[in-house]
Amino acid sequence: MFSTRLLSQEEVRELISMKDVIEAVEKTFRGMGEETVVNPTKVGLDLGETASFPPYEGFMNAMPAYVGWLDSAGIKWAGGFLGERKKKGLPYITSLILLIDPKIGNFRAVMDGAHITNLRTGAQTAVALKYLYPKKNLRLGLFGAGMQGHTQTMAISELFHIDEVRVFDIFPEASRKYAEDMKDTVQGKIVIANDPEEAADADVVVCVTQSKDKYVKNAWIKPGGILFPMGSYQECEDEFILKADRIIVDHVGQCLHRGALKELSEAGKITEKNIHATIGEVVAGKKKGRESQSERILCIPIGTGAMDIAVATVALKRADEKGMGGNYEFA
Ligand SMILES: NC(=O)c1ccc[n+]([C@@H]2O[C@H](COP(=O)([O-])OP(=O)(O)OC[C@H]3O[C@@H](n4cnc5c(N)ncnc54)[C@H](O)[C@@H]3O)[C@@H](O)[C@H]2O)c1
Repeated sequence: MFSTRLLSQEEVRELISMKDVIEAVEKTFRGMGEETVVNPTKVGLDLGETASFPPYEGFMNAMPAYVGWLDSAGIKWAGGFLGERKKKGLPYITSLILLIDPKIGNFRAVMDGAHITNLRTGAQTAVALKYLYPKKNLRLGLFGAGMQGHTQTMAISELFHIDEVRVFDIFPEASRKYAEDMKDTVQGKIVIANDPEEAADADVVVCVTQSKDKYVKNAWIKPGGILFPMGSYQECEDEFILKADRIIVDHVGQCLHRGALKELSEAGKITEKNIHATIGEVVAGKKKGRESQSERILCIPIGTGAMDIAVATVALKRADEKGMGGNYEFA
């Protein structure tokens, strides 16, 4: 009775641009702040990411959400794998998105979620910066020159003039490739940093690595600086988390259980009370993002299913208009 639209990664790529994704992400953050988005905390399946069994050095997250401004619901099933998948030369992130009609529950679409994940992860940072960073020009410090490093740069350059990027990756070859790939995207110059401290000498520092090393030091983030530790584990020192003037997150429950705040949260040193606002509350104008130019801000968009469902719904609408993709009757 119901047909489900099937969209490959190539088709999703054709349907949405970074500009579209930034617009959808901003509206969805506003919806989160206005409480028209339902986004439960993601459920993780540990496939050897941290657990000793099974030993696959990977994880998958189930990320359901309902997005009010699009009246759309769905789930993203996404993960990252460092073991066999990396040896095969495949990208770290793997993902599919399923969309339903929230009124009757029929499955409207099944599509690639990896490209949407990559674009929306960049857009999350760019939109947060729009509300937290007071100027149009910025110097970016980037840790991790992989997939997310690329899309972070693409998104930020849509909304800001990047005067300089200082990029650091433990694999210098990744930094060199990044510099080549991003030379037409970055308005200013790209500097390959020789050590981590050199990369952190910036207005905005973004970490998109799989490191568990807490490598960004408290002393490196200057007054007025903003740090985005976006990886799955803690990429900055405890001291910065404890001393930052403000902690802003996309989702309180998720951020206390995964990523930069997990360890201190489990030790009882960081609780909900230490979180100044969500990005949604700032975008919706309910809370201030920044009180003074000298504040050091820790901003953690750990990634929410709502962003994926919103972007996927925009892609589906366009696919419907264009008659793009396959169709399948599952039931
Ligand atoms: N917050 C979110 O919404 C969100 C979304 C997607 C991915 N992520 C996370 O972003 C991270 C990167 O994902 P990706 O798809 O770009 O992976 P990727 O493998 O394409 O790139 C990661 C890069 O980080 C480099 N790296 C590893 N350790 C490093 C260190 N200590 N210092 C500098 N560079 C280092 C690697 O060499 C690699 O080039 C992962 O932790 C992933 O889970 C977060």
